[in-house]
Amino acid sequence: MLTGGGDCPGLNAVIRAVVRRALPLDLGVVGIRNGWAGLVDGEVEPLTAWSVSGILPRGGTILGSSRRNPFKKQEDLQRLLDNVRRFGLGSLVAIGGEDTLGVAWRLHQEHGLHVVGIPKTIDNDLNGTDYTFGFDTAVGIVTEAIDRLHTTAESHHRTIVVEVMGRHAGWIAVHSGLAGGADAVLIPERPFNVQKVCDLVRRRVERGKYFSIIVVSEGARPDEVGHLVTQDGRIDEFGHERLGGIGELLARRVEEETGIETRAVVLGHVQRGGTPTAFDRVLATRFGVRAVDLVRGAAWGRMVALRGTAIVDCPIEEAVRELKTVDPDLYATAEVFFG
Ligand code: F6P
Repeated sequence: MLTGGGDCPGLNAVIRAVVRRALPLDLGVVGIRNGWAGLVDGEVEPLTAWSVSGILPRGGTILGSSRRNPFKKQEDLQRLLDNVRRFGLGSLVAIGGEDTLGVAWRLHQEHGLHVVGIPKTIDNDLNGTDYTFGFDTAVGIVTEAIDRLHTTAESHHRTIVVEVMGRHAGWIAVHSGLAGGADAVLIPERPFNVQKVCDLVRRRVERGKYFSIIVVSEGARPDEVGHLVTQDGRIDEFGHERLGGIGELLARRVEEETGIETRAVVLGHVQRGGTPTAFDRVLATRFGVRAVDLVRGAAWGRMVALRGTAIVDCPIEEAVRELKTVDPDLYATAEVFFG
């Protein structure tokens, strides 16, 4: 079992669930350190009931994580395949988002590895599952931040732009914006117009609302800029641009245009840290238990998923084929409260 990509609350809960379900069935579990990097470098350790004791409420992952892509170098891929044989790994439970599951799917398709997937990400952007664990916790953290920012924005008659994560999907922004009563929510799925945002802020002032809270997703694009705002074009190990900076850019523009003091708050990795909510603990636990059942049933290349309230499974390929973006109906509901 390995955890790859950005960490998220609930990873330890799922690790515990896999181990606790597997051991009484006489299935030995080995933890691979730091995502795919650990399988390339041969860093593995047996997991026992003792190793997972007490980790249910803990954030992060006891296995460590990385964004290493073993398909980047042929030599890495060969070492990974050699290690699967060397450690006698009969199956591989890959816990991850788009990138980690994409690698899992290729290893299954192109090299016949016995892979089972478990979807996780705070971004909630994986197809095939209604929710990923980590998302509910992130939304809770952002909502609490919005509540706090409301009181200070109101006291100082300021506009506050809250930049949240989510990559190319606006799920975190829309859910936390709805829950926190944001006055506008800007998401990657809808390029936005800066003038319209400024008009909204001005209209609120005319109504006697001297403060505004604008939630902006890191992947949202103003139509006047036309491209993603990134951290100096830097990319991560998987080749993704590191997003960030739209909050500051927008705050500057809103202040210039409206003359109202406007500040940007970037919540960043705070959204990924710390203890999972009860919802995420339960979802992760249900995913972990079902993943072991998939292993027992030799359901290779499949991934556990939540549909409605049921845990089901689907081909990993379904999750990585395309991003799950924000449902327009949900966004329309959020729009009712804009301004
Ligand atoms: O995919 C999870 C996520 O937190 C995204 O929301 C964000 O864009 C990215 O990871 C940040 O990655 P890193 O932790 O590598 O900076």
